[in-house]
Amino acid sequence: MRKKIVAGNWKMNKNFEEGMALTSEVVNMVKDEVSADKVTVILIPPFIHVHAVAALAKGSPVLAGAQNCHQEVKGAYTGEVSAEMIKSCGATHIILGHSERRMYNGETNALLATKVNVVLATGLTAIYCCGETIEQRNAGKHFEVIESQVKEGLFHLSAAQMKQVVIAYEPVWAIGTGVTASTAQAQEVHAFIRKLLTDRYGKETAESICILYGGSVKPDNAAELFSQQDIDGGLIGGAALQSRSFVDIAKAC
Ligand code: 13P
Repeated sequence: MRKKIVAGNWKMNKNFEEGMALTSEVVNMVKDEVSADKVTVILIPPFIHVHAVAALAKGSPVLAGAQNCHQEVKGAYTGEVSAEMIKSCGATHIILGHSERRMYNGETNALLATKVNVVLATGLTAIYCCGETIEQRNAGKHFEVIESQVKEGLFHLSAAQMKQVVIAYEPVWAIGTGVTASTAQAQEVHAFIRKLLTDRYGKETAESICILYGGSVKPDNAAELFSQQDIDGGLIGGAALQSRSFVDIAKAC
């Protein structure tokens, strides 16, 4: 059975003091309230907080991650951060291809394929995001879009490498809008992604890979989403900025 994952993507929120307070609260609540056997909880702050978040969470079941990394290992790339630096700060996971980075930073599937390589070569887990816009869904193109995002970003990997990847399905129209995909809509896409994985890597590998849902997950809709066969947890934005709602989502696993 796949262990569920609840990851909080803080995006560009929380100054240092606020981030530390949130981390301490989550770590304490998770210790008391969440079964570490059932769910992996990950905090994904802005780069500048990663080291301190990882240090505060050390010794607890809570892990730390980063929201992006550069595709090169090191060098003259002013303002960029490498996967190795992130790892050395104590993080275990890196989000790649969030729709906000695809949209505002022009990240393509081809670029993301190179970022996936560097994350895996560093020994970290990539949380690879995919998801369609409302226009694409209304045009009936969502499966096509998701298929190309998943295939072009990930399918150069071997089965062993693929097991170091978590996929997050985040329909763009559900992010930060309060409109969640219905449970049926989400499960339909997750099953579709699982089928793509099965066709490419076989059942054993496909069944081992966590596929998270993201997009307006809240404590009151999490349990139903997470009860679906192919939904293995969530990538949480707004509700991860507050310890009570984030931990309540983790408890819904
Ligand atoms: P919201 O939970 O705020 O909709 O954001 C989801 C998201 O983008 C997580 O990466």
